[in-house]
Amino acid sequence: MSTINAYIETHKERFLEELFQLISIPSISSDPKHKESMVKTANAVKELLLSSGADSAEVRQTAGNPVVTGEKIVDEKYPTILIYGHYDVQPAEPLELWVSDPFKPEIRDGKIFARGADDDKGQFFIQLKSFEALAKTNNLKCNVKFLIEGEEEIGSPSLPEFCKKNKELLKADIILVSDTTLLGLDKPSITVGLRGITYYDIEVTGPNRDLHSGLFGGAVANPINKLAELINKLIDDKNRITIPGFYDDVLFIDETERNELARAPFDVDAYNKSLGIPIGVGEDGYTTMERTGIRPSLDVCGIWGGFSGDGAKTVLPSKAYAKVSMRLVPNQDPITIDKLFIDYVESIKPKGVQVKVAPLHSGKGYVSPLDSVAYKAASLAMEKSFGIKPVPTRSGGSIPIVSAFEEILGIKTILMGFGLESDAIHSPNENFPLENFYKGLETVPLFYKYFSELMG
Ligand code: BES
Ligand code: MN
Ligand code: MN
Repeated sequence: MSTINAYIETHKERFLEELFQLISIPSISSDPKHKESMVKTANAVKELLLSSGADSAEVRQTAGNPVVTGEKIVDEKYPTILIYGHYDVQPAEPLELWVSDPFKPEIRDGKIFARGADDDKGQFFIQLKSFEALAKTNNLKCNVKFLIEGEEEIGSPSLPEFCKKNKELLKADIILVSDTTLLGLDKPSITVGLRGITYYDIEVTGPNRDLHSGLFGGAVANPINKLAELINKLIDDKNRITIPGFYDDVLFIDETERNELARAPFDVDAYNKSLGIPIGVGEDGYTTMERTGIRPSLDVCGIWGGFSGDGAKTVLPSKAYAKVSMRLVPNQDPITIDKLFIDYVESIKPKGVQVKVAPLHSGKGYVSPLDSVAYKAASLAMEKSFGIKPVPTRSGGSIPIVSAFEEILGIKTILMGFGLESDAIHSPNENFPLENFYKGLETVPLFYKYFSELMG
């Protein structure tokens, strides 16, 4: 066993204890009442960076939640890896569906159950503790910097500005991120594409107050009926998005590349079964993998209004609301899509109601090159630790700051994630298998090794 692996073996119980402490702080970025938790978590991350071997670490203010930075410069001549992660998490609701408290991590069936167990506290810990193992055994052949933010789950509103102001501080040869998935522990993969995103609040207003649905029903437009009508017009019967011009910038992917992507091991029956669905549904002419990997999508994330208590209340509501998001593919510009969407909604707005659309956040997609040093190093590292050469995959998820890193800092990102699609991120009972955590700890130090060798 290498000294690095021996170090990990000796300290892995403590790694878990430290991770559990971090997970116990409910750093939910979307909820203003958790502001204090955000600061507490940022400070905890700073202390962890220092105790793990960073020479310096800092909690830095932004217009929103603080950013944590840190570094260990071993030798100016060595290449520099910048590790990005996020300490914020999604809300835990609906709470009643959790088997154990989302902020009291618990191990069951070899998995850590908690909000943030995977996304992204658990995954960030793989980076942090790989760094520790390398630093404490004097095996670092590169410089390491950290950038850990607290607003990823709300679209990273403050981070672009922070990057613009801190280019020198963040200077690096590559950005390394563990915040994505593997196809499986027996199917290692490297994410080479992320989708972009746009997100909107829609508010439909009908009469100036809730009305008796008998006295007024049939004569006054019902905002919920009208909202449903409007949403129904956004996607056609071939499951294509109907917004004029929406597909204009979507890059055509030729047969060769589609065949290449289709080689990734994917069992569509197992996928449907694991989700409890009879059949996958999406854009005509594309496979399940393509529908999330290379094609855009539109989903209503929430819809409410009127009466939803027990029993029946005869009411014609005054208001209806929906949250709508679109996943974009690389080369689609979110700002262009905002305009197309707002104009289109205006043009199909049902009669008798007012419709307001408010963009919440957006970000571009990302594709990373397969012929880069970082991809080669990641591929070699995974081949060694998994015993199987990884395949490149395109993920349907988004990490908007990744494209901004390239635009602002001019640095590319390598996405080396160790989660699984079954980890239930953003869902009740989020979990992270210990096996994935340990496999990550075995793999990331190898990435450092190959990356510095290939850069050398
Ligand atoms: N880590 C995820 C994104 C992800 C997960 C990418 C798995 C690929 C595979 C990230 O924390 C996330 O949830 N991003 C949000 C972005 C949004 C809030 C701007 C998303 O994709 O919904
Ligand atoms: Mn994440
Ligand atoms: Mn997330």
